[in-house]
Amino acid sequence: FGYLNYLVERDRRFIMDTLVNGLSRLEYRGYDSAGFACDGDSDDSTIIIKQVGKVAALKKLVDEQQIDFDKTFISHCGMAHTRWATHGQPSQINCHPHRSDENNEFTIVHNGIITNYKEIKLLLIKKGYTFESDTDTECVAKLTKYIYESQKDSPNFNLTTLVKAVAKELEGSFAFIFKSTHFPNEIVATRRGSPLLVGVKTAKKLKVDFVDVEFSNPVEAPASTAKDANNFLSAAADNGQPQLLHRSQSRAFLSEDGLPQPIEYFLASDAAAIVEHTKRVLYLEDDDIAHIADGELHIHRLRRDENGATPSAATRSIQTLEIELAEIMKGSFDHFMQKEIYEQPESVVNTMRGRVNFENHKVTLGGLRGYLNTIRRARRIVFIACGTSYHSCLATRGVFEELTEIPTQIDIASDFLDRRGPIFRDDVCVFVSQSGETADTILAMRYCLERGALGVGITNTVGSAISRETQCGVHINAGAEVGVASTKAYTSQYIALVMMAIQLSEDRVSTMERRKEIIDGLYKLPGHIKEVLAGAESLQQLSKDTLSHEKSLLIMGRGYQSATCLEGALKIKEISYMHSEGILAGELKHGTLALVDENMPVILIMTKDSLYPKVQSALSQVTSRKGQPIIICNTGDENLIHEYKTIPVPQTADCLQGLVNIIPLQLLSYYLALLKGQDVDFPRNLAKSVTVE
Ligand code: G6P
Repeated sequence: FGYLNYLVERDRRFIMDTLVNGLSRLEYRGYDSAGFACDGDSDDSTIIIKQVGKVAALKKLVDEQQIDFDKTFISHCGMAHTRWATHGQPSQINCHPHRSDENNEFTIVHNGIITNYKEIKLLLIKKGYTFESDTDTECVAKLTKYIYESQKDSPNFNLTTLVKAVAKELEGSFAFIFKSTHFPNEIVATRRGSPLLVGVKTAKKLKVDFVDVEFSNPVEAPASTAKDANNFLSAAADNGQPQLLHRSQSRAFLSEDGLPQPIEYFLASDAAAIVEHTKRVLYLEDDDIAHIADGELHIHRLRRDENGATPSAATRSIQTLEIELAEIMKGSFDHFMQKEIYEQPESVVNTMRGRVNFENHKVTLGGLRGYLNTIRRARRIVFIACGTSYHSCLATRGVFEELTEIPTQIDIASDFLDRRGPIFRDDVCVFVSQSGETADTILAMRYCLERGALGVGITNTVGSAISRETQCGVHINAGAEVGVASTKAYTSQYIALVMMAIQLSEDRVSTMERRKEIIDGLYKLPGHIKEVLAGAESLQQLSKDTLSHEKSLLIMGRGYQSATCLEGALKIKEISYMHSEGILAGELKHGTLALVDENMPVILIMTKDSLYPKVQSALSQVTSRKGQPIIICNTGDENLIHEYKTIPVPQTADCLQGLVNIIPLQLLSYYLALLKGQDVDFPRNLAKSVTVE
């Protein structure tokens, strides 16, 4: 997170609070330590404050500081970071910001991994640099100082050229903010592979709301943006119709009267940290170097379209965020996860809003317009995702194959990349990701796009890398999801994929009745979810009486419910730390049955569908080994309800039943975590968006 004010008077307390508050909004992305850097009492000093643990611990430490909180700054820049350890344990010294030397000449915060940091470190040690942390990031801070010392006297040297020189040496993924006592009130931010956006807050109206990009050499503006660029240049330079973009001719933002104006900038990995300050944001692209000074933002390119890098447009425009602050606040709930579980009756409606016509039984996904026939003619559809998003693909595979009759393949992104599987021009690859920023999924996406496949993005984050880089896609519109354990994003992804299958098969008369049945089921879904949520208390009791003292739990089911088992088990592992395994009931006899006895807790999913008789045989296999299963079954399944401990849920179309069945498992995992005293929204060792490979 970064914050800059220009011609806006702010005291140190405000600046520090803004930085720490920005971190608390990003805390769900990493929370083992936190820190920030801001100006000291003179231009050439920087204060760094860091603390192990959560942002609240940092806040406490700030309050204990003996510093002048009332000192005011007309212009100032600060940076802050909350960490999810990759290199080096969570400790005060490994925490960001990192610095170049004891005088804090260069301070940086970093999200990502620098893969060649060992080589850089070795080189710098040879040059006499000593290191205080085990992190890859510290090498970059020291490298910055090293390059500064060797280049500072060259002509046209400035913070941007310095960061360009540093970034050229780096391999891996990063989003960086740089600050320096040599360049007071300036910030340079750059990214490659990790997300970074800039929020802009002004009192006056802006005359232009985009920034032109400076390529290393002046270039012709790409056709799509040439008009805007020309308008901009004529606005700025008033010289007719220039064809080339030259930095010297342009200004980043112009106020209505063209005069310098008070302005504040916010940089963050996620819009969640910006939305309370401003809704006007600009997304940086890979290899953008953003320089903010004197109230202006300028974007430079590190390299242009070399090594197959995605060609960059000549402008970055300001967009308006659609999320509301309330979405990222807990409100009356104790935890984000709890809030998000309870939001599902609404979030599923938001996913379908304006897309499903319940009267005509039609689905229209605007984001796939123009691509439907290409998808229908595809050789195959490859779904690629990680974690819960991967489970949403598994959950909908059956209905996808049934309705579209297109061969489908599902891959975990990291495994797909490990195999470097064959991808062809007539493949359609669907990337499903809540954040749209998961490194493994992004790399898999680029791999497939390079091979000419059509990329479809299914994300919950407008402006994310996956939604920007795929040719078409569907926003699931579930609203911001903050809890590390994904809940409402899962149900919305599931629905988005079902909707996609329905639309793709709309020209098939043979599946018309089936589509009607599913759309009717979607209509009733919010009511069904509400019904399950109303039984939360008995689930809480069940967790307490039957499961909270257990070490392990098996969740079994088959067909449409296989994915529900895997997803339910993942939820339980993630936040209660109880070992839990999702078992495809057909595979029970091939191994897992060896674990079953009177002491092994088992949840069996036995809602009514064509596989019900087969699940009955799994039930007998369990009970004949003295297992005492808890059964998720349909309300009214009297035989089961009388004989076993059950969790009754309303019945819906077989292919949608997983949307209903996952709710009790989400609630069980939540209650188990509470009973075990775990931190529901901040499970140990996990992060919400994994932007490193
Ligand atoms: C992390 C999160 C999971 C999530 C997975 C994929 O592991 O903890 O909840 O399912 O990443 O994230 P994505 O944003 O790509 O859906």
